[in-house]
Amino acid sequence: MEVPSYNYDLTNVAVQAAHKAGDLLRRGFGSHFDISKKSNTFDIVTEFDKAAELAVISHITKFFPSHAFLAEESGSIDKPNAPICWIIDPLDGTLNFAHHIPTFCISIAAVSGTEILSGVIYQPLLDELFVAEKGHGAFLNNVRLRVSTVEQLNMALISTRFPYDSPESRQKSIQSFSKILSIGNPIRITGSAALSLAYVASGRFDAYWGLDLSPWDFAAGKLLIEEAGGTITSYNGENIFPLKNCNTLATNTALHAAILSYMK
Ligand code: IPD
Ligand code: CA
Ligand code: CA
Repeated sequence: MEVPSYNYDLTNVAVQAAHKAGDLLRRGFGSHFDISKKSNTFDIVTEFDKAAELAVISHITKFFPSHAFLAEESGSIDKPNAPICWIIDPLDGTLNFAHHIPTFCISIAAVSGTEILSGVIYQPLLDELFVAEKGHGAFLNNVRLRVSTVEQLNMALISTRFPYDSPESRQKSIQSFSKILSIGNPIRITGSAALSLAYVASGRFDAYWGLDLSPWDFAAGKLLIEEAGGTITSYNGENIFPLKNCNTLATNTALHAAILSYMK
């Protein structure tokens, strides 16, 4: 594995960790594996989520023993006065992975206070590595990324998620979905919020909206979008913080105000 040298050691280590987890997920994809339920039938975790998370945390800890973690399967791992908190989704798109659907990724972000310094999203089956560094741009396999240039809402390819937890969140989601659907645009659901955000950063999608995303779903994607010239806010247009759940709208900037008006 050849790892190019980025501006921050944080990014180099995150890329290495993503490759380690990616090797595991690539080997596990399509095999028989243990699946357990979390909060409901569709909220599941596989043995590969856990193994990939362990691989990422162990790799990062080897280089940065004083850093803290917020990881989907392990929760919060605090360290006194940690200068950096790593936000990790070891397998975003678990339901896809469990159903042998080849759309999933690993998402890793390094956060100092509320500032995201490095963000890495890796799709191991396609070997697509999305990397962003604060102030140094966003890249897909070392090629600079820019968001799309679409300015008219009726030309936009938009992606979203549907929640399946509480009846209230399903209801809220139906409202925003039917408003966007009324524009008459095509809508895509990848089943991986992090990958959808990386696709906004790379101009494949013009926008993505998702109710109640967790920090590990959007932290790396947020930096990718901002470094690629996009905008990512709450449904109220406010800045979003990497350590809190958030209703998230990500766009190519040109479409932000127009789509925001449908979220209210
Ligand atoms: C899920 C995916 C999905 C989104 C869910 C997330 P997971 O993450 O990102 O697209 O709709 O809200 O929980 O469980 O596969 O890591
Ligand atoms: Ca996950
Ligand atoms: Ca996730």
